[in-house]
Amino acid sequence: MSLSRNEVVLWLHNVSSLDLWGPPVSETWPRLRGRERDGWRPASVRSFSAPPAASQIQQLLDNAYGWSGVRPVPSAGALYPLRFFVASIGGAPALGSVRRATTLNQEQACALDRAFFNQVAGPSVLIVAQASMDRPVRRYGARAYRYALLEAGHWAQEAIRFAAEVGLRSCPLGAFDDVAVSTILGNASGWTLPLYGLALGEA
Ligand SMILES: Cc1cc2nc3c(=O)[nH]c(=O)nc-3n(C[C@H](O)[C@H](O)[C@H](O)COP(=O)(O)O)c2cc1C
Repeated sequence: MSLSRNEVVLWLHNVSSLDLWGPPVSETWPRLRGRERDGWRPASVRSFSAPPAASQIQQLLDNAYGWSGVRPVPSAGALYPLRFFVASIGGAPALGSVRRATTLNQEQACALDRAFFNQVAGPSVLIVAQASMDRPVRRYGARAYRYALLEAGHWAQEAIRFAAEVGLRSCPLGAFDDVAVSTILGNASGWTLPLYGLALGEA
């Protein structure tokens, strides 16, 4: 029996769902008042004129996910399963090694760009967030998949916000060849899932 794409998505949603009588929702949940915001998120950009400086990428990696204490993003069970890969694409000069991420070499970066369907033009840096699923799956079963997606979204929002603060533009990328990206990142057989890309550069 072959399943349509929609059926697979619904199946994933169902197997990871709680029953209808799951955790109670408080009726007295306090109304949250938004903080005054400095500005709007700038529109996504897919064509870049210059890559980010290595120091900006480093700052983003250090700050968007946080690595100790109370982090900028929440994580189910505080497992923090995301790991990051960075690649210089579109003719951007090679990034040296950075903390908190694995830097891909030029050949891998070209392959990664292709696996993201060459959606981005111009010199830029592509960060890929990948989830290590071992611990989350042990704790949450199939629901870990849902949590990983949500957590990647938390990270991406924080990274986009940080990028805007340092004058960079970005584009989140969810369309990519999963198998190809997994293979490039060297995880063809592991419990790891590439979930989200974020292209960054100067507009
Ligand atoms: C989960 C997700 C996946 C996305 N994937 C892509 C993508 O693969 N390629 C792309 O060009 N934009 C992608 N985007 C960006 C959206 O197209 C963009 O945010 C939307 O058109 C609104 O435009 P704005 O960000 O400029 O306000 C994605 C956005 C989200 C939230």
